[in-house]
Amino acid sequence: MVVQDDADRTALVTGASRGIGAGIARHLLDRGARVAGAYRSGREGVEKLAAAYPDRVLPVRLDLADRDSAVDAVQQVRSDWGRLDSLVLNAAVWDGGKLTRMDPDAWWAVVETNLRGTAAVVRAAIPMLEQGGDASIVLVGSVVGDVGFAGDTAYASAKAALVGFARSLAKELAPKGVRVNVLAPGFVDTDMTAAVPRGSRDKIAEATLLGRFGTVDEIARAAVFLSEDATFCTGTVLAADGGWSL
Ligand SMILES: NC(=O)c1ccc[n+]([C@@H]2O[C@H](COP(=O)([O-])OP(=O)(O)OC[C@H]3O[C@@H](n4cnc5c(N)ncnc54)[C@H](OP(=O)(O)O)[C@@H]3O)[C@@H](O)[C@H]2O)c1
Repeated sequence: MVVQDDADRTALVTGASRGIGAGIARHLLDRGARVAGAYRSGREGVEKLAAAYPDRVLPVRLDLADRDSAVDAVQQVRSDWGRLDSLVLNAAVWDGGKLTRMDPDAWWAVVETNLRGTAAVVRAAIPMLEQGGDASIVLVGSVVGDVGFAGDTAYASAKAALVGFARSLAKELAPKGVRVNVLAPGFVDTDMTAAVPRGSRDKIAEATLLGRFGTVDEIARAAVFLSEDATFCTGTVLAADGGWSL
């Protein structure tokens, strides 16, 4: 179903195999765009999208933890489509625990994968994004990067860093017509939060003004708004957290 005509647009969405990334890819496809869906291990998730939207989905393998992977994935988009209008950096890993209990290498791996890996994809994609003169980058952060969460020092460090990264990049790329924004979700029902114990889940929902976790669809709509519709927004952070961080 095409609800809005973005038929001339192409997008690369990381972490498109499941969760929020799959939702963002679906919403972009519903608007008519072509989507390169990046997966790490879940190729079947992107294949499902390709079956539902024939000829408009390009599965690409991308592992944020592998230095060459970003360049290869972007190169695949370049050779298949030759252009890129929207980049949604959604993929991330979560690993947590109180700072003193977390293995230092595991701690750093979370920051490195999420921050260095994301920056590597952006770096590889910039030349194509600049070509069109009307492009957009959305980085999926987290409100935890702003207000913090016990047991999340590594993940929150990477998410906080994305904001400074995005604002600096917005200044670098505005002259080339590329907008850069951050979407900061609160707690959302996906695999990432599936292991949250019942008691903590209830407390989080209670602390959320809207009284519940968000849905993939709600976050995907906010991401597509920033990516495609918010044409006078750059360097902004949009919280989509049901009021949890207030
Ligand atoms: N869920 C929440 O409550 C919440 C809240 C705030 C922010 N966020 C953010 O929203 C984004 C999506 O989260 P989600 O809840 O949808 O997560 P999810 O269900 O755990 O899915 C993670 C996605 O990221 C991909 N991924 C994981 N490690 C990767 C790596 N090293 N390289 C490339 N891709 C990798 C996975 O790919 P494969 O399946 O192919 O391995 C999968 O598509 C993340 O940036 C997350 O930090 C989520």
